[in-house]
Amino acid sequence: MAPGAQIDLDVIDSLIRREEATLEPTRRASIEYRATADRFVAGGVASSWQDSPPHAIFIDRGKGNRIWDIDQNEYIDFHLGYGAMVVGHAHPKIVEAIQRQAELGTHFAQPTKHLDVIGENLAERFRLPLWRFANSGTEATLEAGRLMRANTGRDMLVKIEGSYHGHHDSLMFSVAPDPAEMGPREHPATVAQAEGIPQAFADLVRVVPFNDLEAARAVFDELDGQIAGMIVEPAMMNCGVILPEPGYLQGLKDLCHAHGAYLAFDEVKTGATLAYGGAVESFGVVPDIVCLAKAIGGGTPCGAIGATRELYQPIVDGTYDMAGTFNGNPLTMAASQAALLEVLVPEAYEQFDRVDKAMKDGLTAVIEETGLPAYVSGVGAKGSVIYSTTPVREYRDVVGIDERISYLAWLFQQNRGVFKSPWTKQETWTLSVWHTEDDAARYVANFEEFAKAVTA
Ligand SMILES: Cc1ncc(COP(=O)(O)O)c(C=O)c1O
Repeated sequence: MAPGAQIDLDVIDSLIRREEATLEPTRRASIEYRATADRFVAGGVASSWQDSPPHAIFIDRGKGNRIWDIDQNEYIDFHLGYGAMVVGHAHPKIVEAIQRQAELGTHFAQPTKHLDVIGENLAERFRLPLWRFANSGTEATLEAGRLMRANTGRDMLVKIEGSYHGHHDSLMFSVAPDPAEMGPREHPATVAQAEGIPQAFADLVRVVPFNDLEAARAVFDELDGQIAGMIVEPAMMNCGVILPEPGYLQGLKDLCHAHGAYLAFDEVKTGATLAYGGAVESFGVVPDIVCLAKAIGGGTPCGAIGATRELYQPIVDGTYDMAGTFNGNPLTMAASQAALLEVLVPEAYEQFDRVDKAMKDGLTAVIEETGLPAYVSGVGAKGSVIYSTTPVREYRDVVGIDERISYLAWLFQQNRGVFKSPWTKQETWTLSVWHTEDDAARYVANFEEFAKAVTA
């Protein structure tokens, strides 16, 4: 195939049929258990995003960089629980911290003596002075929106088209909007991502394309004095990895401040994965709020919200309450403390960078050799192959990429001992501290088989 040539979708379809037929007999236990769970659990899965074609795969156990499904297939895990398990599975330090805390009690809804240690570590990483804790990324971004609204007395929020910030009603808009509904690029529609979200919430959110400062400026000018703040994933992680262009993030911060509004980074995926200090460190911009979850919990349900003293003043004063029964839960805090202070130490990021380089070099060499129309994008523990020859800058650049290609790439890996995140929307891979260059080589070898089959 010539460099940049089109992929033949008929070839893709027939390879999908072949790979699905190979997969199915080796996943019988998962397929059967689904029918059992179906009797009492809606859809047979705990979250709709634990299910993806051809069928949900139920996991038995994990250790380090490996997981085993209930058919006892062994995989190198690049899914890592949607990017939460950068510490790897059953890390001895996390297991020990959880066991120790379990014997001391798992929940009090009273503060414990983990707060200062974790708060100080997060303040050092993300350069924001004050923190509160929650139980998920959804809660973290919900609190961010409310903090911005409370501090400005304004209702409007701005978000990026194609970004996901969790499943609460304030921001679950235009996550993966259907092209027929997304409206013109100069004024994207605010498209509810789920049934049941009232239009009143949509009316309070404006959507703009990533990497386009002028588009954001136009909205701030149009709604001058009405916008509480903007939330942005500093590098988009749900459309492959889309990096911010130089000056974009600082430009957004300046724009927000010029209009008396705040800027929040949703670092649920990038935090403590791109670098020790997440996107704040990688891109050198400190926003007013950082939302964290996933990696900081060492594999327990977690969330954290960092902000300036100014933004936290109403909480400090008691003017309004940021609350939750399980916020600062000691089991989560014990795991989080071990993850942040003992596992995700600076050397871990050197390891991520080494393996990331092996992934990028290997995959890029395959792409060049086969002429597959694709490129590789990533930072630290996060990366992806994007099936486009021109750099993708925003969500609208990926909507035209046929999802069958990434589905087939997922099937090739799955059938050859590598667990990747479900394939829709070009999900990223995640590395753990247990991943080595050998694991990268396995991923690359599988990708080479895929690329050769597609371009043959
Ligand atoms: C960028 C981002 N923000 C927020 C969330 C929501 O996090 P959670 O699923 O923990 O509620 C996610 C989940 O994938 C995410 O990717």
